[in-house]
Amino acid sequence: MTISNIQVTPLSDQIGVQITGFDLETAAKDEDFAWYVKRLLAEHLVVLMPGQSNLKPATAQSFHSKFGDLIDIKRQGNDALHVGTGDDVNFIKVISNGIGPNGRPLGDGNSSAQIWHSDTTPWEVPCSFISFYCRETSPVKPKTGFLSMIEAYRTLPQATKDGIMKLRAIHHNYSRQIEVKIAREGASLPLEERMMGFTHPLVRRHLPSNQPMLYLPTRRDSIIVGWNEKDSRNLLEELWTHVEGCKAVIAHAMVPDDFLIWDNSATVHNREGWPEEDTRVMWHISAGGEVPTPFASQKGKNVAGMNVEEIKKVAKENVGAMA
Ligand SMILES: [Fe+2]
Repeated sequence: MTISNIQVTPLSDQIGVQITGFDLETAAKDEDFAWYVKRLLAEHLVVLMPGQSNLKPATAQSFHSKFGDLIDIKRQGNDALHVGTGDDVNFIKVISNGIGPNGRPLGDGNSSAQIWHSDTTPWEVPCSFISFYCRETSPVKPKTGFLSMIEAYRTLPQATKDGIMKLRAIHHNYSRQIEVKIAREGASLPLEERMMGFTHPLVRRHLPSNQPMLYLPTRRDSIIVGWNEKDSRNLLEELWTHVEGCKAVIAHAMVPDDFLIWDNSATVHNREGWPEEDTRVMWHISAGGEVPTPFASQKGKNVAGMNVEEIKKVAKENVGAMA
C-alpha cells in the first residue's frame, strides 16, 4: 500500500486524528502502515479509522499485536461468547450488554456511563495501547471521550507541577470504579485496603514523545505515598478537577465499522451510558506496556523515545563522564 494515499484529518486541535483512504484488512498486514500509525499515535494519541467493513477478527488481533504483547482481559467465569475460542482470536474481548440467542452474554460489560479513567492503572504494568472495533451500536449512540493527559499536565499551574513532580499514588483496587454511579456513591474502602496496591508516579514520562503527563488513580480517595488521607484526597480532587476542565478532548460516537486505537498511558477516556434494553457490541484488544516511568527520574536516562541526535548526545556525555 502507499502511505501517501492516506488522508489525515484532525479530530481536534490537540488530540486525535482520523485516517481514511485504505482498507484496514489489507493495510494491517503492512509493517510500514503499523509504523505510520505508531507515529500518528505518538503525536495525536488517538487514531480513528472509520468504514473498515472488511476487517477479520484474526487480522484485527494481529494488527494490535504490533503495538505490544497482547493481554487477555476477558472476565473469567461468566460464560460470555466473545468472538470465539480459538487461539487466533483469543485476545479479542467483546464489550457488550447484549445477550446471545442461547442466553449467554455476548461479552463483558454493561450499558453504564463511565467516568474519566485510564484502563488497568492498578496493575504493575498497565495496558499501553487499546483498540476498539465497533460492530453494533444502540439507537442512542453513546459518545466515548478521550482527553490528553500531556495537555492536562502542561496546563497545570507551575507551583502544582513543582509540587507533584516527585509524588507517587497508590492505585488500590476498587470493583467497578469506572461506573458513574459507583464513583459517586461507592463508599471508601478501609484505609488499610487503600494502602495496598502498586504505586505509580503522578507525573509520568510519555516515552514516545519524552513529555511529562499526569497519571492519576481513578479513585479520588486514593492515597499519595507518605501523605495522610485528607491531604491525599484534596490533591487528587484538585488534579481531577483540573483534568475535567482540560480542553484537549474529543467525544466520538462510535458507529459500526469504526476502528479506533488509542494510547492508554497518555489519555483518559469516558463513556456515555445508553438504555439497557438496547444492545451495543464493541471488540476490544489490549496490549501490555511498561512499568510507568517517573518523569522526574534522571538517573540512568531512559533513551526510549529519543531521536537519534538525542541518543548520540547522551552517549557522548556518558563517554565524557567515564574518561
Ligand atoms: Fe476503559
